Amino acid sequence: MPDHAADAAGDEPIKQRKNGLYLGVSDELAENMKSGWADTELRDLTPIPQADRTAARRAALSARFPGERLVIPSGNLKTRANDTEYAFRPSTEYAYLTGDDTHDSVLVLEPNGREGGHRATIYLLPRSDRENGEFWLDGQGELWVGRRYALGEAEQRLGIPAKDVRELPARLREATGPVRNVRGHDAGVEAALTDKVTAERDEELRVYLSEARLVKDAFEIGELERACASTARGFEDVVRVLDKAEATSERYIEGTFFLRARVEGNDIGYGSICAAGPHATTLHWVRNDGPVRAGELLLLDAGVETTTFYTADVTRTLPINGRFTDLQRKIYDAVYDAQEAGIAAVKPGAKFRDFHDAAQRVLAERLVEWGLIDGPVERVLELGLQRRWTLHGTGHMLGMDVHDCAAARTETYVDGTLEPGMCLTVEPGLYFQADDLTVPEEYRGIGVRIEDDILVTEDGNRNLSAALPRRSDEVEAWMAGLKG
Ligand code: GLY
Ligand code: MN
Ligand code: MN
Repeated sequence: MPDHAADAAGDEPIKQRKNGLYLGVSDELAENMKSGWADTELRDLTPIPQADRTAARRAALSARFPGERLVIPSGNLKTRANDTEYAFRPSTEYAYLTGDDTHDSVLVLEPNGREGGHRATIYLLPRSDRENGEFWLDGQGELWVGRRYALGEAEQRLGIPAKDVRELPARLREATGPVRNVRGHDAGVEAALTDKVTAERDEELRVYLSEARLVKDAFEIGELERACASTARGFEDVVRVLDKAEATSERYIEGTFFLRARVEGNDIGYGSICAAGPHATTLHWVRNDGPVRAGELLLLDAGVETTTFYTADVTRTLPINGRFTDLQRKIYDAVYDAQEAGIAAVKPGAKFRDFHDAAQRVLAERLVEWGLIDGPVERVLELGLQRRWTLHGTGHMLGMDVHDCAAARTETYVDGTLEPGMCLTVEPGLYFQADDLTVPEEYRGIGVRIEDDILVTEDGNRNLSAALPRRSDEVEAWMAGLKG
């Protein structure tokens, strides 16, 4: 809930607060600013395309927690420095249940009493008040940040009755009966509910909302397809500018991909990993300030997030000059074979762990074959010795969060069974650190990962990121074609 809007009027001398300067405001100017404005046009009232899906999700949530008040905040702006804020992204739980993207908003499901079920209300910041000067004196007033939806407009778009969020604290404080809240997004909501909720019961709500997202509906699958299509175009953009990136740094690659993400989507879904040369062996290399050199590999792990907050998560490892060396190709092809084995293990009825095990087996076999580790393979796998170079799990659920459904219980996710509609990454890798004295010198500083977004279907799976080639010879041909 916002703490800024309510105090625009008061007994203090009126001041305009923004951009570091506190400008005094005369009574005459304050009066002048109240009038002489035409009505602004209505904003787009077309219902959001997923309105029927968000309604179904709220109905399922209602059925899971009968008779309880459920409070799901979108979250507040986070200060970057004094009066500037980081770009806002609504909490996944809120966006999943409403399709809305505004900050300081709260979805509340109130139990319907004896009738059963819940009434949903979305509490939002309404249009700015002109009478009390809020629209221009408050840093979040519409003159500064742009036109908001009026409550009635929001209601039509989202299909949820809307009220002024400034009424909410009092309503929450007065509420009786059991309440659950998604924590971690809105300190104001948490303060109002402090003596009404328990950590354990709130956690059950969070777990439910994570597990509800394990199986994607048709709208979500469409959004993941769009995210992957934009991501593929972003990778093509990068290949086209590799020469320019060589003249600057990994930052050029990061910026190139980001342009595509902002133009076609909301943002990148996570910090892009633009790791050239030995940086590819640092799993979360997001500093992206290193050089880009011909003869080395570029590991690019990046995903576009759509305007509805679904992200792709794709990795390609590319020879910067367009051709793999023999050793790079040998390592790359091993990772490719591991990924093929992993993807083949993704099907309904398989265990979530199966694709990881399949990929790890291929990598362990190669490491033994290359003499980097003593066999037999079974012993290597049993002791996990290949992990010195494979490092991470082979994949994770994907959706609104890059590591989606992270609060799901072990039995439904990591120890669970794959079902049609689940979407996950398959992303094996081999990483030879630059300072790893246990491998021949020529391996050191080479890191390879290949990552695709795989949808479980009724009869197997579909690779949503298949537009980007994966096989080493196809990668080379694709790069040559793009560079013309
Ligand atoms: N980009 C993070 C991951 O691949 O899981
Ligand atoms: Mn991933
Ligand atoms: Mn990734």
